[in-house]
Amino acid sequence: MDFKIQWFPGHMTKAKRMMETQLKLVDVVIEMLDARIPRSSTNPMLLEMLGNKPKLVALNKIDMADSAETDTWLQIFKNNGLTVVKVDCATGKGVKQLISAVQEIAKPVNEKWAKKGVKNRPIRVMIVGVPNVGKSTLINRLVGKNKVIAADRPGVTRGQQWITIAKGLELLDTPGVLWPKFDDPEIGFCLAVTGAIKEDVFDREQAVMLLLERLKTNYSKEISEKYGIEILETDSVEDISRKIAAARGCLKTGGVPDIEKVIQLVLRDFRTGRLGRFTLDKPDRK
Ligand code: G4P
Repeated sequence: MDFKIQWFPGHMTKAKRMMETQLKLVDVVIEMLDARIPRSSTNPMLLEMLGNKPKLVALNKIDMADSAETDTWLQIFKNNGLTVVKVDCATGKGVKQLISAVQEIAKPVNEKWAKKGVKNRPIRVMIVGVPNVGKSTLINRLVGKNKVIAADRPGVTRGQQWITIAKGLELLDTPGVLWPKFDDPEIGFCLAVTGAIKEDVFDREQAVMLLLERLKTNYSKEISEKYGIEILETDSVEDISRKIAAARGCLKTGGVPDIEKVIQLVLRDFRTGRLGRFTLDKPDRK
């Protein structure tokens, strides 16, 4: 696949340095992944930076992902020894289970402190993930009515606060932003169409055409039902976009299909979940 993202390595260096500073302050990390793209939204460098620090995965936006694929992914993570919790931060589903999982995974940290004679030391947690994965939405849910600001602590960037979110758990109210991996075009494509990458650094038309191709292969029935069009095996993505244009009245004067409008429509419908529940990262792809 040929899909390019104009990316500046300097941004990555800055984000990495920032992440390293933040990680020093916490005991447990919640890595939030997008259930539609569990492979593409993870960042292998994080593991390296974490060292022995416990991490758990929050698989978010499950309401927009293919539920059978989500369960397969869940199993893959578990088989790899990871703690993973399915969440839908838009409604709050799974958030309670997430807190319990954090408490569970933090037990060895508590035990380590207990051995040193330190009792009741709160566990400090932070949420990390690529842009737009839902970090702030989760923080707002966790903080919500518990907005009890824990004591000021040195070392936290000005403006950041520790919030007590459950007994013995303090959350850093600023998420850690992971940079997208940009060397694999497949990953770049997945991050672009789900909204993790700003639109000015990739070709939207190319992204949407690739998306239509993918949806035609895996979810043809859903797309034809959604747009009320017939999709033939022999249809190219251009044919499909022209059919969408006709069905949705995306036409220029003289009845010429307005492909720019189709691009906007498909991208918005996909990103909001209106198009259906799709998983782009297939568990069986290596
Ligand atoms: P970030 O901090 O990681 O950058 O992401 P943020 O929380 O800002 O969330 C990005 C978008 O994803 C938001 O939508 C948010 O509502 C949505 N979102 C978060 N979690 C879920 C989820 O589990 N399911 C669904 N369907 N959406 C989720 P937005 O359109 O940018 O803003 P708004 O609609 O909240 O105003």
